[in-house]
Amino acid sequence: MTTLDQQSGTPAAPADLTARRFRRMRPFGGEPAPPFDFAGLPPGPRWPVWAQSVALIRFRHTFVPRMWRRYGDVFTVRILPGGRPLVLFTRPEHAKEIFAGDPEVFHAGKGNAILGPIMGEHSLLLQDGSEHKRARALLMPAFNGHALRGYRGLVEDVARAEVGRWRAGEEFRSLDRMNALTLEVILRVVFGVTDERRLARLRPCVNRTVNISPAVLLGWGYPALQRFGPWKRTVENAYRLDELIYAEIRERRTATDLERRTDVLSRLILAGDDGDRLSDEELRDQLVTLLLAGHETTATALAWALYELGRDPAQRAVAREAARSGDDDHLEAVLKESLRLHPVIPMVVRTLMRPATVGGWQLPAGATVGPSILLAHSRAEHHPDPDRFDPARFLGQHPPVNTWIPFGGGVRRCIGAGFSLMEGVAVLRQVLTAYDVTAVGRDLPRVRNITSVPRRGARIRVG
Ligand code: HEM
Repeated sequence: MTTLDQQSGTPAAPADLTARRFRRMRPFGGEPAPPFDFAGLPPGPRWPVWAQSVALIRFRHTFVPRMWRRYGDVFTVRILPGGRPLVLFTRPEHAKEIFAGDPEVFHAGKGNAILGPIMGEHSLLLQDGSEHKRARALLMPAFNGHALRGYRGLVEDVARAEVGRWRAGEEFRSLDRMNALTLEVILRVVFGVTDERRLARLRPCVNRTVNISPAVLLGWGYPALQRFGPWKRTVENAYRLDELIYAEIRERRTATDLERRTDVLSRLILAGDDGDRLSDEELRDQLVTLLLAGHETTATALAWALYELGRDPAQRAVAREAARSGDDDHLEAVLKESLRLHPVIPMVVRTLMRPATVGGWQLPAGATVGPSILLAHSRAEHHPDPDRFDPARFLGQHPPVNTWIPFGGGVRRCIGAGFSLMEGVAVLRQVLTAYDVTAVGRDLPRVRNITSVPRRGARIRVG
């Protein structure tokens, strides 16, 4: 349903809808954390809260494994704001308990509140309980097997065009190229826009939205800041992007070929029963969520995959042969192994709305719990020789349940998991049939917002 202006009864102006979102969404707020009794919680460091928070966010790749070695399979980190406990779990049976936890008790949306001003209150990532369940049911069909097959041709076209611009002997940061490619894919898949003039207007606005730093997002807690520097530019960009998206939504609602269209926007307009369709604001929030969640994540997974293949001539030869012969299972195994070795998102978290028991520990309401993806993927009993890149782990077999969890799990499992694997396979096929890829220098993970990206951009040479 088109959102109407309450006084005039005509469609609400996009700028008013944007202003309303900014008024409602603040990156922090809600109930202050109750005082926690740390005596009954799993062990953890006694450093100052700020030091633990910085270590967890900025130095997670060394800090989290160190805590595991020191405190064992379950440990507590105290984080800002308020020194609240984050209890990290590393065993698959504990991940299972968390993923299967009652969604009314194990809330995921709370942890994403910082994204509120950008993604909006209806965003799948921010919702919990029955609202989340409804939105998820409306969105899921746009990502089922049938829908994915509909997107494949488009992904292949964009990948072919990107690889077609490379020149033999060229050396570049594969992360940058993959980011450009996946942005193009997600823009076209989500909006179904092929008109180059429209894409040219959308692209820079989406790019600027994707590149917002956590500092700018945190600044939303202080509306006065929005008149200055990066905050002002972010606000202006948000108004511009919303204007374009609302125009796209309203125009699409009048399209006569909606049933035949395969893009996500057209599918979402039709989703649900007559009395339960997504409003303009809901559509806008879900579209922005998909653009942001579905772009850098896949690009990073692909960059790591190219980097690992680029370092290993034997694996590269097998993968190139797979690409030439159409063995997509092997290319998918390459991606899955890259996601195991270099999880793009290091942990998933749930905030407890009521006291709950996980792994035998009785935890208070307000505590945050989560499986560490990083540690789950590096346990040698589940992934022998865990530091080795070996796609064969995923060929004709699968690691034990909940030991490979790059997409999280349960009712919050990544809605784009199938999409990103489909996209990744299509891109690897294009790259590897056209070029031999060698890694240039060593790379290590670096934290970028919440994702872990290759510090040097996973430099490769194509030949
Ligand atoms: C390699 C690529 C990707 C990785 C590693 C990844 C990872 C994740 C993770 C870890 C979560 C949280 C799951 C949980 O809390 O249990 C998540 C949620 C989500 N992802 Fe992805 N993702 C990827 C690609 C995508 C794509 C391509 C899209 C959309 C086109 C997408 C959309 C979402 C959405 C909407 C959610 C929220 C689901 C919910 O709360 O119900 N992701 N993703």
